[in-house]
Parts: sequence; C-alpha cells; structure tokens
Amino acid sequence: METSNATSFASPLANAKYVASALPAQLEPVINAIVNASMWQIFLTLLAAAVLYDQSTPSSRSLRDLVGLAAAAGFPVFSYIWQKGSIVGPPMKLPFMGPFLESMDPKFEEYYAKWLSGPLSCVSVFHKFVVIASTRDMARKVFNAPGFVKPCVVDVAHKLLGADNWVFLDGKAHIDFRKGLNGLFTRKALECYLPGQTEVYTQYFKRFVSVTEEAGGKPVPFMAEFREVMCAVSCRTFVGHYLPDESLKKIADDYYLITAALELVNFPIIIPFTRTWYGKKAADLVLHEFSKCAAKSKVRMRTGGEVTCIMDAWVKQMIDSERWREAEANGTINEGIEKPSPLLRDFTDYEIAQTIFTFLFASQDATSSACTWLFQIMAQRPEILDRVREENIKVRGGDPHATLNLDQVESMTYTRAVVKELLRYRPPVLMVPYQVKKDFPITETYTVPKGAMVIPTTYMALRDPEVYPNPDVFDPERYYSGDAEVKGAKNFLVFGTGPHYCLGQQYAQLNLALLIGMASVLLSWEHYPTPLSEEIKVFATIFPKDDCPLTFTDRKW
Ligand code: HEM
Repeated sequence: METSNATSFASPLANAKYVASALPAQLEPVINAIVNASMWQIFLTLLAAAVLYDQSTPSSRSLRDLVGLAAAAGFPVFSYIWQKGSIVGPPMKLPFMGPFLESMDPKFEEYYAKWLSGPLSCVSVFHKFVVIASTRDMARKVFNAPGFVKPCVVDVAHKLLGADNWVFLDGKAHIDFRKGLNGLFTRKALECYLPGQTEVYTQYFKRFVSVTEEAGGKPVPFMAEFREVMCAVSCRTFVGHYLPDESLKKIADDYYLITAALELVNFPIIIPFTRTWYGKKAADLVLHEFSKCAAKSKVRMRTGGEVTCIMDAWVKQMIDSERWREAEANGTINEGIEKPSPLLRDFTDYEIAQTIFTFLFASQDATSSACTWLFQIMAQRPEILDRVREENIKVRGGDPHATLNLDQVESMTYTRAVVKELLRYRPPVLMVPYQVKKDFPITETYTVPKGAMVIPTTYMALRDPEVYPNPDVFDPERYYSGDAEVKGAKNFLVFGTGPHYCLGQQYAQLNLALLIGMASVLLSWEHYPTPLSEEIKVFATIFPKDDCPLTFTDRKW
C-alpha cells in the first residue's frame, strides 16, 4: 500500500500521514481514510465537499470555508435550508446550478406561483441566493432601503453597459449624477421631443399597413415590428437625427440581442457565440454610434442649435455650465446669464453615449411590451378604442393628420387613463433585482444575507382587489372617473419607487398616449386571437405568447 501511494498518481495528502501523530487522536481515522483513499474516492469527496459548500450560506466567507472543510472532513454541514431560514423556498437546491435551466426559460406562471407562495420566498441559482419580495409592502421596503440594497440588474449588465456606468452608482454619487439628468425630462424638454416622436410614428404606421398588404391581408405577429418602432422612436428622442437611418435600423434590428443577453438569470461569463457575446457586440455598436452622435451634438449645440433630442438637452446644459463658469471667472456674471442648475462638468463623447444608452436600455423592453399589449387590448375592446379616437380627433380639430403639442397630449384625459390602466393591467416590469449590500433585516424574523439578491415584484401590488376592484379586468374608468389614482398611490409600482424610481416615467406615459392617439385616428387594426393571446411570455418584460397577430389598414374617415 505504501508503495502504491508513492506512485506519480499519489495524492500529496499522503504526506499527511507523517504529521498525523501531532493531531488529536480522534482525527486519526479521518487522516487514515484520506491517506488510503483512491483517486476516485478523493475526487468524489471533493465533489461532495463542493456540493455541500454550494448548499451552504454565502453570508460569510469564513463560514463557507469552514463548511467546506467540515464537508471534506465528513462532518455535518450547514445547508441552503439554514440560509433560507423562515421564508418559503425549495427544501434543497440542485447542486451548483439551482434552477438555472428553468430560469433560461422563465415562465410567468412559475413566477406567479412564487409570488403567491408568501410575502418573502427564495430560490438559489448557481451560488446566488435570491429573495423575492412579493407583496406591496415588502416590495416597497426593498425599493426604499438604499442603505441596505443597490440595483443589480444581472452580472452581465456591467459588461454591456460598462461597470463605471452611472446606473450602478450608489448613495450620494447616484443622487448627484441623477440630479444632472432631471432637466432632460421637464415639461419644456418633453415638448422639444414631440416632433421627432410624431415623425417616427407617421413613418412606421405606413410600414404597418404595408406589412399587412405584403401578407395579402393575413394577420402577422407584430411584436417584432413594435419592438422596432419603439427602438426607433427612442433613438429619435434620445439622439435625434444624428443617428443615420441605416444605423438606427441596425440598432433596432439588433436590440433584441441585448435583451436576450440581459435576461434576469443568465450565464455569468461571456463565452464566444453565446447570447451574452452577441449582446455585448450589439451593445458595443450602440455605444460606438451614440459616441459619434455626441460629437455631432456638441458641434451643433456650440453653434446655437435648437434642442431636438435628449442628447442635445444634456450637451446644452454642459455648454451653459461651462459658459457660466467662464463668466464667473471673468467677473461678467451679471450680464444676464442664468446659472444652470445643477452645474455640469464636461462629459466625454463616450460618457454621454454610455448614459444615453442607459435610457435606451431602460426604456426599450418596457415600452415595447406596453405598445404590444396596447394594440392588442384596444383591438379587443372597440368601445374603448372609439372613445380614444373621439378624444383624439376632437383635440386635433377634426384633422387626423394634425400634430399635437404637449398641452394637447396632456389634455387627453381618457387616452391617458387607458395608458395608465394598461400599465397596471400588464405591468411591463414584473421584478426589479437589487443587490444586498449589508445584512438587511426586512422583517422582525428574517434578515436577507449580505451578498444575496432581493427582488421586489410590482405585479401583486397592481392586482390588489382592495385597491383595484376586479383587478383582472381592464377598466380605464378606474383612472378616468374612479379613485384608483388616489387609492393606489402606494400600489402603482409600475415605475418603481425610492431613489431609483423611473427617470423616464412621464415621458413614457405621454409617449404611449401619443402613440395610441395617433394610431386611433390614422389606422384601423384587427387582432386575431389565438389560445396563446392572453398567455404571458416573459422576455425581460412581458408579451403575449403568440406575439400579437394583427392586420392594419389606413383609416378612412
Ligand atoms: C413603460 C415604460 C417604462 C417602465 C414600465 C419603466 C419601469 C422602470 C422601473 C420599474 C425602474 C426601476 C425603478 C426602481 O428601481 O425603483 C426603472 C428605472 C429607470 N428607468 Fe424606466 N421604465 C419605463 C420607461 C423608461 C423610459 C422611456 C426611460 C428613459 C427615457 C426610462 C429610464 C429609466 C432609468 C434611467 C431608470 C434608472 C433610474 C435610476 O437608477 O436612478 N424608463 N424604470
């Protein structure tokens, strides 16, 4: 035996025999077992140790190391069960992966079952322990706990958006950066973006009609078309005409690769030819194109150009800040120069691109989801669409082609109620992942461990029957003549709440009102329901499982 252990395949641990005498007598059988183990036995022991390590709590590195050692020594170990404590969750996890394979194809029904299972529930994927906060109050606790949590998206988001991206900032640094962006979403700013939005919709509505014509009048699933139009309208709003049409088309075509790469749970490293790899390539293209736009915007805004997009508005604020600083340095401050608030530093083209990309990233999937459901739901409820149409033709003074200013869009209270109810009924963002920075005592009896992910859900709050009677019914009256706005002030988590609440929420809602209003007066469309039309597909946000088969024609008045 001694000789066989001395072969080139012998475990280095074989030498442990010579120190065994210095160890407590109780450990001798363990040492002997290791010394006499075959390669297979050692491999299986290490594997078992790794599995036990994987099932163990991540709350402290030293504890995990102890667990690993204990496992190697054959001692009883702490388990995943210990980590989940009093909350609901699977009794055991699949070694290493957890439900990774399920999460590659997330199902709404599985999420829903999870939310129903308890106010707090858990799951473990790879080595990430995930706590899901389902009820309104639990969700709000997470959103409003910046001392304990910070947004986390998915690991790969850092690689796609850049680890130094502002959306990953935390605390004061985040608040300060965000203050500098608020000016891009004021009423005055939103008014400047309307012509660009109107132009894109007019162009794409023609395309919708031709898609139906090319299909010989047969229904075509429109989800991909809606994703494209929303990407196009976002790009126009964010970077205006600086982006050439071919680049816009390429970005709109490729954007789904970014979404696919960023699905809630995904492979943690970028391997060539995987979804994350394609996503990274698409993200790099957006950053490259947006950087070029930033350079052009800087030139145009320096020569006094009008603000026509969000990038212009931000660049103008930088230029105004610089001029104010110069005036201050030269002592010419009193000559009618208004102090920009807040004063901005000069951002590089790449930094500007990176920030504007976060807007596209934040808006694209959510607005595409809302747009798809909006067209489906309106087609299914002609009486509601008729009221939208009536309001829209009236505000346009009877001319379906008349363009609207912001006051007019805002004045359409019924259309806006339809949009609000749509967002309640089919909330695009079901969950918002946060990272736990330090042990988070979310209830008196449960603390989410540091390093875990905690995910507030928006859905349950939006289906609360106490606040929204018959919550499964789509009923814009709640917001038109009812009390849902006031009663649901704490429940309307569609755009989150707390320090990271959606920066684009006013723009998003007005944009959807403009979209459906314009469509109501310029188009007629029909939905062709299938058994999957009401089933929810989760692709970052939510879509009808049949991708929304529709036909479009020009509207004859
Ligand atoms: C229907 C459309 C939209 C929905 C449902 C939506 C929803 C959300 C949600 C749930 C969050 C997370 C909030 C939180 O953690 O508390 C968020 C964050 C954000 N959204 Fe939106 N969003 C939409 C459209 C937009 C648009 C159009 C823009 C930009 C123009 C935008 C920009 C952002 C940004 C920048 C953040 C991160 C804010 C921060 O971390 O400080 N969103 N959005």
